[in-house]
Amino acid sequence: MSIPREGTTLDPWYDQYAARTAGLSGSEVRSLFAVASRPEVVSLAGGMPFVSALPLEAIGARMERVMAERGATALQYGAGQGTPELRERILEVMALEGIHAGVDDVVVTTGSQQALDLVAKLFLDPGDVVLAESPSYVGALGIFRSYQAEVAHIPMDADGMIPAALTERIQSLRAAGRPIKLLYLIPNFQNPGGVTLSSERRLEIIDIARSNGILILEDNPYGLLWFDQAPPQAMRSVDSDGIVYLGSFSKTFAPGFRVGWALAPHGIREKLVLAAEASILSPSAINQMVISDYLSSADWRGQIDVFRGLYRERRDAMIDALEHYLPDLSWTLPGGGFYVWLTLSDGLDAKGMLPRAVKELVAYTPGTAFFADGDGRRHLRLAFCYPTPTDIREGIRRLASVVRQEQELLETFAATGPIDAVPDALQLGSRVISPPPNLS
Ligand SMILES: Cc1ncc(COP(=O)(O)O)c(C=O)c1O
Repeated sequence: MSIPREGTTLDPWYDQYAARTAGLSGSEVRSLFAVASRPEVVSLAGGMPFVSALPLEAIGARMERVMAERGATALQYGAGQGTPELRERILEVMALEGIHAGVDDVVVTTGSQQALDLVAKLFLDPGDVVLAESPSYVGALGIFRSYQAEVAHIPMDADGMIPAALTERIQSLRAAGRPIKLLYLIPNFQNPGGVTLSSERRLEIIDIARSNGILILEDNPYGLLWFDQAPPQAMRSVDSDGIVYLGSFSKTFAPGFRVGWALAPHGIREKLVLAAEASILSPSAINQMVISDYLSSADWRGQIDVFRGLYRERRDAMIDALEHYLPDLSWTLPGGGFYVWLTLSDGLDAKGMLPRAVKELVAYTPGTAFFADGDGRRHLRLAFCYPTPTDIREGIRRLASVVRQEQELLETFAATGPIDAVPDALQLGSRVISPPPNLS
């Protein structure tokens, strides 16, 4: 017997999805990225850590040891909250950023992406508001959208989110009767902006959130990857009641293990464990055991130093190339992490320019990906983590040629009549880099 259903010819179940799936939109530039992954393309698009810099054989030996010595436990279901052993180690990692907490307050998750999802699941009803930086992490925006929440972007400058703008926005949302549930922040080497929230602003923002009864979600996957000086201490180090802190081994070790964590006030932590169990029963036991082994007996701090040196060199290569090839544009100068945020001239559209860039064998992520409201057309994110310095220079050279062609096109059309200005509410402060050095 066939069940009557409408749907479409492509998907007969189309009419039956839950309303929240409307937020599950794939990236408009996904198909282009498939092309961009070809080896001849220099991809400045993805934020993939350079895992080849890890001692792969030594990690393999650890995996073998875990299997040989404790294989039956490694392959079994485990506790929903994660192993006590790994949670102890996580406390040592967080101590590097000034956080002191109890082992019971940590919940191990499948990457910090799952922790983001669990926090959103606990707090967001349809129509709730999440405050976030402008721009913000595309993966978090997708989660907030999937819970039918609305993101209100708060402007940033070179010191991160602007506290006065935050207060103003809270007041206007409150006046409109909107429920504000979370303040989502990436304080260190922000994705995608590359900027770091200053220590004064951290305190100011904590005060604002506290006085308005808004929970802070502090997402910190990049904090230990600083180049010149350590960022200010984590916000969680000064407020243990009003902040859910998220950490990850993806950038300081390896994303393939899919291990991250949440550190939460007691009540929230209990609910997080229940939500995690409902979602995945327990995080991977074997991956937690390998990471515990790595943290207890390998020089993981030394490995983070290796990554810092490597990414610093790549950041420098990118900034040098931008100074050389695109001296008229402006960009942020990250003190760590993976990303530079580039601002194009007025009237240029990074998303519209991407097909031409891919044709010229360079890829980037258009700024619109990092806004919930379609803003960011004049901007693009450049990731320096994966390509070699030589490839980065070549990628920026290609990008500069594409930007020049777009600029010429724009000028040609401007000469023949008025064109629509590209709206741009982004207020992320960017540094204009002074005259280009001679790189010849
Ligand atoms: C700001 C931010 N948060 C969370 C994540 C998710 O990381 P993972 O799930 O690998 O820990 C990423 C990954 O790029 C990120 O940039």
